[in-house]
Amino acid sequence: MKQLDGLRETMRRDRVFNFVQKRQTMALPGTRPVHDGEVDVSHGPILYLEGVNVAFDGFKAINDLNLYIDDGELRCIIGPNGAGKTTMMDIITGKTRPDSGSVYFGQTMDLTQMSEHEIASAGIGRKFQKPTVFPHHTVFQNLELALQADKRVWPSLFFKLTGEQRDRIDEVLKIIHLDAERDLAAAQLSHGQKQWLEIGMLVVQNPRVLLVDEPIAGMTHQETERTAELLTSLAGKHSVVVVEHDMEFIRSIARKVTVLHEGHVLAEGSMDEVQRDPRVISVYLGE
Ligand SMILES: Nc1ncnc2c1ncn2[C@@H]1O[C@H](COP(=O)(O)OP(=O)(O)OP(=O)(O)O)[C@@H](O)[C@H]1O
Ligand SMILES: [Mg+2]
Repeated sequence: MKQLDGLRETMRRDRVFNFVQKRQTMALPGTRPVHDGEVDVSHGPILYLEGVNVAFDGFKAINDLNLYIDDGELRCIIGPNGAGKTTMMDIITGKTRPDSGSVYFGQTMDLTQMSEHEIASAGIGRKFQKPTVFPHHTVFQNLELALQADKRVWPSLFFKLTGEQRDRIDEVLKIIHLDAERDLAAAQLSHGQKQWLEIGMLVVQNPRVLLVDEPIAGMTHQETERTAELLTSLAGKHSVVVVEHDMEFIRSIARKVTVLHEGHVLAEGSMDEVQRDPRVISVYLGE
């Protein structure tokens, strides 16, 4: 019996370990906490993309792209299918290397010279579309494991959280509206709740920048509204870049909107400004 328990424990630890490893290789914030002040935003923007070009087999997916995200801003990126929105996120996170151009995190960190893992560790978190929560662990434990992705130790639920870490998890549970579900297994959450948990697993590591690609796909109307609230509440403390096709959703959260078309910025401004822009109407909203 004891042997069986031991085996179960080993298998469980293996699963947890694989999970944390997977999250780390998926370029989620990694090995060290990001402290305020590490990123030099003295000139305003936290992200600079300047003159960036990327071609895939001769096809220019990103074409002289200039994009500046201010510290703490919430930026919406829209654009038709194939405009280069996801590729832009791949460039920022180091998954795709530009053929030319500059990509900087603050004034000093050249993202083109950093690995995916280094970029994540430096404080750029990316929410992938498919939730990668750990289904058999509780909501609280998922956040605990995400927090431990900061440590170069064998992740374990027997790891003793400091009071400060426990407070941080409690705070994030409230931010993502899952305080009442803290002891539920993640598998029992709705699709929307799993997405929020995944966002929480990034937020608990305190990234400076959060990149979110099509966050409301598959969500109910109510979940969509909650997600809008969540993303707007994260702005200020974090810079949040949201890519989404749903115009009603974008309108509900938009401050500054960037319209991408053929890998280039076509228009930038308030939602009303870009929707009124004849170039935007002809290539995108008029479709
Ligand atoms: N790894 C790749 N190899 C070849 N072509 C690619 C690759 N990644 C993207 N592309 C191409 O680059 C273009 C931009 O793709 P991207 O996925 O960035 O667009 P998107 O704006 O995110 O579109 P969607 O709204 O459909 O998600 C597309 O034509 C796509 O087919
Ligand atoms: Mg995309």
